[in-house]
Amino acid sequence: MTLFKSILFFFLIVSMNRVLSSPPDDIVKCTSGNTHCTVTNAYGLFPDRSTCRASQVLYPTTEQEIISMVASASKSNTKVKAVTRYSHSVPKLACSGGQDGILISTNNLNRTVKVDVESRRMTVESGVVLKDLISEAAKNGLTLPYTPYWWGITVGGLLATGAHGSSLWQKGSAVHEYVVSMRIVTPATAEEGYAKVRSLSESDEELDAAKVSLGVLGIVSQVTLQLEPMFKRGVTYVSKNDSDLEEQMIHFGKEHEFGDITWNPYQKEALYRADNRVPMEQPGNGFFDFFPFRSTPAEALASFRSTEEDIEATGDANGRCEAAKFLTGILKNSAFGLTNNGKRFTGYPVIGPSNQMQSSGTCLSNHLEDGKFTACAWDPELAHQIFYQTASSISLSKVPSFIEDVKKLIELEPQALCGLEYNGGIIMRYVKASSAYLGKTEDAIDFDITYFRSRDPLTPRLFEDFLEEIEQMALFKYGGLPHWGKNRNIAFIEAIKKYPNADKFLSVKNKYDPQGIFSNEWTDQVLGLKEGMTILKDGCALEGLCICSEDRHCAPSKKYFCRPGKVYKEARVCALEVETNSKDEL
Ligand SMILES: *[C@@H]1O[C@H](CO)[C@@H](O)[C@H](O)[C@H]1NC(C)=O
Ligand SMILES: *[C@@H]1O[C@H](CO)[C@@H](O)[C@H](O)[C@H]1NC(C)=O
Repeated sequence: MTLFKSILFFFLIVSMNRVLSSPPDDIVKCTSGNTHCTVTNAYGLFPDRSTCRASQVLYPTTEQEIISMVASASKSNTKVKAVTRYSHSVPKLACSGGQDGILISTNNLNRTVKVDVESRRMTVESGVVLKDLISEAAKNGLTLPYTPYWWGITVGGLLATGAHGSSLWQKGSAVHEYVVSMRIVTPATAEEGYAKVRSLSESDEELDAAKVSLGVLGIVSQVTLQLEPMFKRGVTYVSKNDSDLEEQMIHFGKEHEFGDITWNPYQKEALYRADNRVPMEQPGNGFFDFFPFRSTPAEALASFRSTEEDIEATGDANGRCEAAKFLTGILKNSAFGLTNNGKRFTGYPVIGPSNQMQSSGTCLSNHLEDGKFTACAWDPELAHQIFYQTASSISLSKVPSFIEDVKKLIELEPQALCGLEYNGGIIMRYVKASSAYLGKTEDAIDFDITYFRSRDPLTPRLFEDFLEEIEQMALFKYGGLPHWGKNRNIAFIEAIKKYPNADKFLSVKNKYDPQGIFSNEWTDQVLGLKEGMTILKDGCALEGLCICSEDRHCAPSKKYFCRPGKVYKEARVCALEVETNSKDEL
């Protein structure tokens, strides 16, 4: 019962609106003024646990200042990289190459440049945070119809990584599909003054490179987005058993404009979020304030983490399944954070204006009060929540077979995936094929999971092998495209070969930045220009830095050995083998 108590405690506190927090620290930290800096991500932990260094960080306030900064870097062939306010990308996209590189922060490039109500277009600087974009649009009677679910990301950052919401309608759920023009500062020749602004519109093919660029083309200064007149949405969560999930998924996405599905395989449950446009006249001022994105007191986060650490340490698979069930129950009872009027949930459907119904993240904006420290759950100041986030999208035609394979795997060991359910389940969102060179190549479903990461890189996880098999199955058997801003290293192995237009992307990169000052080791590896994506060392498979090929890549001293997958035999996973003593008996 202590387990349940601590979870209940967590939720009671999170649900009290009075809890206020301090915004996260800047992710760039410098020892003297703005020089001798380190940079990490919002979680304080890159996939390889390294910290990146830079000689200095610059804070341009105008496009003119970006030009002179890029010119000076280009002239001296110095590495440079844009960093965003909170840096929510998991992989090392925020690092400038080497130790002597320069970071250009977009923190002060956060103005709305223009709102054209007639054409429903809005121009913003690249450092504008999604939350502010959404609310500024709403003030003008406009809305960005499809958005990522977490609003603490900047326009420049979310475009660079191809971030998306969930939809198979219109041009799909990725924000980059709604970019009509952008201005990007790139290096240039000496005659041109070493840097220049490239203004790209829909008729420029190069926009297909710039829309999703991993930040390697230059610094985006402004983006113009096509919006729509404000509309309302009606949301109903429906829980069903998962026996026909593979048949339902495609149909459901076509039926509901903003639908998504959360799958809890141990509980044999699929939670369908039926989410559709409704007429503006329908009453309702619904508001979505997703529980996990609310500010949470440090002690509640500590208890949530220690519960999971205890489960891992004692191998209490059953305990975790029960805890996951309990947690899902609380989430369902509280409508996941939906309220009908901003205060209380009184029943489905919840109807509200589009800007209040999808993205959330109140943990970012609340402020410290009562001397009680509260934060976003992953705040590195607390170092409580350390997790992996694995996300890849599988084309619609292959989704049913993938689901069947996962079901086969679970049949072998029903409790194996409770760790996912404890962390929110398997979240499935719809995305459409894109003209962006590094965008999705086919209509697809993005599978997103969050799961326990040990503080000690050499400690295996409970049911390590099941999760590794699913990860490899999604990526290699079903050709899943990794989310550029999430994942462990292995997701990017040969990923670039899955993009038929990768060469077009690279030729734009060569044209814009022939010296590669905006590239770092990581982006070179992702783009297939450099070896080293896989880091072979003891325990590397545990951290997703390699696919195991020898036992030492797992944890042989803890009886985790490199073995084939159970359903996807080509997978190589770290599996626990308990000795049976049969040899001794013979
Ligand atoms: C823009 O950033 C500055 C400095 O980081 C901050 O003080 C200001 O409130 C921000 N403006 C908006 C609209 O977010
Ligand atoms: C799942 O639900 C369907 C109806 O939606 C029902 O026919 C079926 O028997 C259920 N399966 C299980 C295993 O409960």
